Amino acid sequence: MKPIVCTGAMDVETLELMDGLKGAHTVPLGCWKCVAGELDGYPVVVVRTNQGMANAAASTALAIERFAPCAVVNQGTSGGHSPDLHTGDLVLGQRVINMNAVRTPERARGMGIDPTCGQLLGLEIANPHPGDGPKQTVFEADAGLLRAAQSVAWDKSSVVCGVIGSGDVWNNELDRIAWLHEQWGTLTEEMEAAACAQICAAYQIPFLGVRILSNTAVHGEPFDAHTGIDCQRFVRTLLREYREQNGC
Ligand code: 5AD
Repeated sequence: MKPIVCTGAMDVETLELMDGLKGAHTVPLGCWKCVAGELDGYPVVVVRTNQGMANAAASTALAIERFAPCAVVNQGTSGGHSPDLHTGDLVLGQRVINMNAVRTPERARGMGIDPTCGQLLGLEIANPHPGDGPKQTVFEADAGLLRAAQSVAWDKSSVVCGVIGSGDVWNNELDRIAWLHEQWGTLTEEMEAAACAQICAAYQIPFLGVRILSNTAVHGEPFDAHTGIDCQRFVRTLLREYREQNGC
């Protein structure tokens, strides 16, 4: 049976899952910490990607090459954009977008800058063929993984489906956060999901991003590391649901 690769950037986003693995063993994976084993009777590989898009992309590509997983789930903490969400609430990434992939309009020297003018810029999906590859900035969740996530029984906090925004950025300007929320529908932001999704698109591996709000500038709520543990508990159930629903 092919494993599911589950990625998270930090210890607080991966140790709960790693500790839950039966027969856990560390596997060399470039510069990244990687532990394989069985979770609730199914093969799972947990990768600590470290923070940011480059780390997430590189470690995801290595994990896919090494394990040929049937699915990849990226999960962890995030900062809220939606006024409806608070620390502890969960966002199932129906789609993830790369908030930093932007093309600005032409503007002459001396005409100033306006970060709200950018349009999403397509990112090339890696492939070995001649010529430019297909371009994408928005990555849709795999329907089966999303269905499994939606069927997790969870009464600790709200669980919503929507857009996760990724980038090598931590936004604290409330006007920028409101603009991202209105323009692209982002419910929360983080620094890895779209990079994992882009690599999964290249390899055509089913992908889902799941993020818990660990902080939200919208409500002045500071970072709460404990949320990372709750997110992993949610994802553990999601993985079991997925296996049971899909028999793979
Ligand atoms: N903005 C950006 N990244 C965040 N993270 C948690 N909250 C935020 C936020 N408000 C996550 C990122 C990264 C680390 C800094 O925590 O995904 O891994």
